[in-house]
Amino acid sequence: MSRSLDWAAALLLLWVGGSAWATDDYLGIGRDATPTEVRAWDIDVRADFKGLPPGAGSVVEGRGIYEAQCASCHGSRGESDAFSVALVGGTTPDDREMGRVRALSHPVRTGPTTFMLLPNLSSLFDYIQRAMPWGAPKSLPPDDVYALTAYLLHLAEIVPQDFTLSDQNMAEVQKKLPNRHGMTTDHGLWPGASSASGGFGNGGLPDTQAELCMQKCASARGE
Ligand code: HEC
Repeated sequence: MSRSLDWAAALLLLWVGGSAWATDDYLGIGRDATPTEVRAWDIDVRADFKGLPPGAGSVVEGRGIYEAQCASCHGSRGESDAFSVALVGGTTPDDREMGRVRALSHPVRTGPTTFMLLPNLSSLFDYIQRAMPWGAPKSLPPDDVYALTAYLLHLAEIVPQDFTLSDQNMAEVQKKLPNRHGMTTDHGLWPGASSASGGFGNGGLPDTQAELCMQKCASARGE
């Protein structure tokens, strides 16, 4: 055997030995997650409302839970921006009709509120369920999350005081969100063909409208 072949054989042994060693090293370590553990993490609610847990909660129930667990940070009408953006405010009856929040078309002086931006009700439910209250995330049972979502919808003047939100009527309420048509994937961040031709993105076009300019740019812009 030539010397280089010796080396090759030695390296092969090392590699085989090494990988066997690596595999053995993990034998007996860890275990499959149990169905209960998987369920505890598998809580995402999608835009088409797949993943919603069965349950219901009313505006009135939500008010009590909100006062006890949320108002200290978010204000008793969801108006406080002390800790996060204000949850409620800045939307009009016209916006609810059109599904686009008009105020977003102008430069917004204060931070836009949650309901000004929210395109999918599932996101609000999902967020409260996984992240709130701040000090005890994932502590709320599904009925409380429905009740809190219902109460916030009421504060945002989307549902009446005697309303009960559930996994059954969530999709109906979605149709009343003020900014339900405000989110598009029609821009450069998303891959794929343009949404006009059935894709998910804008066909790879840049988001900016700027024209390439290396000299006399101010005059090129008419300044
Ligand atoms: C101790 C303070 C505190 C309490 C109590 C609290 N939150 Fe929050 N909340 C926050 C903070 C801070 C954020 C911003 C978190 C971030 O952006 O990462 C936030 C964000 C949110 C948002 C997302 C806002 C947005 O548009 O980005 C929602 C919705 C919300 N909270 C709902 C609730 C609800 C419902 C409760 C009661 C169950 C609650 N919060 C209790 C501090 C709190």
